[in-house]
Amino acid sequence: MPQLFHRSANSISKISLAGAVLAAGGLIAFAYTMDRGNYITDVHVVKEQPVPFSHKHHVSDDGIDCRYCHTSVETSSFAGLPATEICMSCHSQIWSNAEILEPVRASYRTGESLQWTRIHDLPDFVYFNHSIHINKGVGCATCHGRVDQMPLMFKENTLYMNWCINCHRTTKVDFPDSTGSNGNKFYSIYEHFQQDLKNHDKDSITVKDIGGTECQKCHY
Ligand code: HEC
Ligand code: HEC
Ligand code: HEC
Ligand code: HEC
Ligand code: HEC
Repeated sequence: MPQLFHRSANSISKISLAGAVLAAGGLIAFAYTMDRGNYITDVHVVKEQPVPFSHKHHVSDDGIDCRYCHTSVETSSFAGLPATEICMSCHSQIWSNAEILEPVRASYRTGESLQWTRIHDLPDFVYFNHSIHINKGVGCATCHGRVDQMPLMFKENTLYMNWCINCHRTTKVDFPDSTGSNGNKFYSIYEHFQQDLKNHDKDSITVKDIGGTECQKCHY
């Protein structure tokens, strides 16, 4: 019986089989990077803004404190974005004719605020409060990265749920001693932690221990 397929067909089918396996592998790898990659998470992605505002210039070169512009970060859930008046406190004197600052001057003239594109934006069903974190000594850079070195703003972390939870699991918290005559009775809810520490049942108390991974703390 004559050979139905030429001998080379064998290697062709091998090659195409290998090709198919590679393609499938490639697809999986692609799906994986898509899932974890910056395209989805927006991490390190710069967005277009009405004015190309540089944190690097204003914070590192000009030495302006974060709180000068993000005025409510220590006292409320919302850090706040600066009103046009804050920009104009300087830019009515310096760079006052620069083309690049025309949208700022226009906003000042018309009273219509600049529409900054949000970089960090949690879904509405998540509750986040800046002041809780700042007052417990978590610095801006821990969550936002080196903003002082960013020519244009980008997100350093995903802000995904596991990002919040991982920090709450590992970060230790301090609380005043409620025992003894000077003890603040408000903190007596923590009394069992004091006992655990004394008995060496635990060597530290984390945000998780005080309820920081309970669903209703972040979702109502
Ligand atoms: C305390 C003073 C001060 C305030 C407030 C301020 N700027 Fe500036 N800005 C400067 C200085 C100084 C420069 C010169 C840039 C440099 O350092 O090279 C500058 C430069 C700029 C430039 C030119 C590009 C650059 O970064 O070099 C833009 C755009 C700008 N500022 C936008 C803003 C906006 C928008 C606001 C309000 C959110 C603002 N600035 C608030 C002082 C200020
Ligand atoms: C001179 C005013 C000014 C100062 C000082 C300043 N910022 Fe900003 N910041 C802005 C403006 C304007 C925006 C909105 C435009 C943008 O995203 O770049 C902004 C945006 C941000 C955002 C992103 C907001 C969003 O959309 O999610 C973060 C985070 C931030 N700033 C953190 C900081 C930190 C941390 C510091 C101090 C190291 C700081 N800023 C200092 C004016 C300022
Ligand atoms: C524990 C992490 C954490 C720390 C610390 C932190 N931020 Fe944020 N920041 C966030 C998250 C999460 C958001 C998004 C909030 C949202 O979308 O509701 C955000 C949003 C912002 C915004 C956009 C406006 C807003 O409030 O939603 C600015 C501006 C900002 N942060 C500035 C700062 C500055 C300045 C500091 C330091 C003084 C700081 N942040 C410290 C996590 C943090
Ligand atoms: C870098 C660490 C860190 C990250 C990231 C972080 N947190 Fe926290 N969180 C803390 C600390 C520290 C406290 C303060 C605990 C205390 O001592 O009361 C806290 C407290 C809280 C509380 C109050 C808990 C309570 O028991 O009352 C809420 C709500 C909260 N965080 C939400 C969030 C959300 C939502 C995110 C993510 C978007 C987040 N946190 C990310 C460190 C972090
Ligand atoms: C420390 C804060 C925090 C706690 C505690 C927390 N979550 Fe979340 N959760 C978040 C954040 C932030 C997001 C939004 C993530 C994003 O942007 O996709 C989220 C998103 C979700 C989503 C939407 C799907 C998703 O994964 O994006 C569900 C469902 C959810 N959480 C359920 C829960 C349940 C159930 C618990 C308790 C076991 C819980 N969460 C505890 C912060 C928290």
